Amino acid sequence: MSYPTRVRKTSVYLPDHLKRALEARAAATSRSEAEVVRAAVEAEVAATGRAPAGPAAEAPRPGRLVGVGVGPGDPELITVKALRALRRADRVLAPATAADAVGRAETIVREAAADVRVQRVAFAMHPDVDERARAMAAVAETVVGYLAEGEEVAFITLGDPLTYSTFSPLAGAVQELRPATEVEVVPGIMAFQSLAARTQTTLVDERQRLSIRTALDAEDAEAGGEDLRDPDCTVVVYKGGRHLPVLATAAKEAERLDRAVAGELLGMSGERIGHLAELAETGPAGYLATVILPARPAVETSPRRSRSNRSRAGTGTGRKR
Ligand SMILES: C[S@@+](CC[C@H](N)C(=O)[O-])C[C@H]1O[C@@H](n2cnc3c(N)ncnc32)[C@H](O)[C@@H]1O
Repeated sequence: MSYPTRVRKTSVYLPDHLKRALEARAAATSRSEAEVVRAAVEAEVAATGRAPAGPAAEAPRPGRLVGVGVGPGDPELITVKALRALRRADRVLAPATAADAVGRAETIVREAAADVRVQRVAFAMHPDVDERARAMAAVAETVVGYLAEGEEVAFITLGDPLTYSTFSPLAGAVQELRPATEVEVVPGIMAFQSLAARTQTTLVDERQRLSIRTALDAEDAEAGGEDLRDPDCTVVVYKGGRHLPVLATAAKEAERLDRAVAGELLGMSGERIGHLAELAETGPAGYLATVILPARPAVETSPRRSRSNRSRAGTGTGRKR
């Protein structure tokens, strides 16, 4: 059996009866004792749900940058593919506000895969665009250094790496400095998907559409008006925790406050989930808050409407929107 990933030696002492059983098992299956031990350890680790990249896993590719989405917070929402990518990489980097500040994405990895070593890279969260660009360029240079040394580098992000994430600009900056860089993305479950699941909110159905937007300032929070005026458009709002009361007012005006839900710190300690109206009552929430302002139900489910739908279906006019 060949192992494309690095292997490391370990020694175990076995009591006599296990040693004899191991010899017998190896002879009976034409394998070495080491192969039998490896298979037993793999089965044990897989049974805990924390299987490391196994023999079939791909080897790290020198000079590859992999954006890995780790989900919104609940460590059980990290994908098997993401865990494999983290265990395969030579280096796992996590964005942080400072070298000694553990970020959210790093916390998720610590909980989901304690065996993975995470290295922080500090991003200056500067309000000035040029300052941010300079900080991004400095991180890109660091990443390029590791890639040039032949490492595969994984960069973790909260949720999905291609949705409001530092990975997109970072990958662009790295490819500018090192055009030969191969970039791969492992998608992650997004915060709004988690909130929809937790509140059993249908996002879209039939011919409805979904709009994802931010509400960093109050003006931005009110600007979702056009989408909100379309009753068949569900509006997801990110970065709007500070403006929950404004969002609740907008939802009321659009006659969807009764369906509107909000989630703060989803899957993390201090989590709050509920109707937008309830969460907004206590004032602004934190940065990690997501709001869903759902479209009207595409399919009427009340018994009264269902009956009338059934009778209309008989006349050929019961087509769903
Ligand atoms: C920088 S964006 C990251 C989005 C992420 N890449 C995704 O795919 O969901 C940060 C925003 O995502 C949302 N968010 C991410 N994680 C969240 C969580 N655990 N609970 C609530 N909202 C979250 C919030 O709206 C937050 O302001």
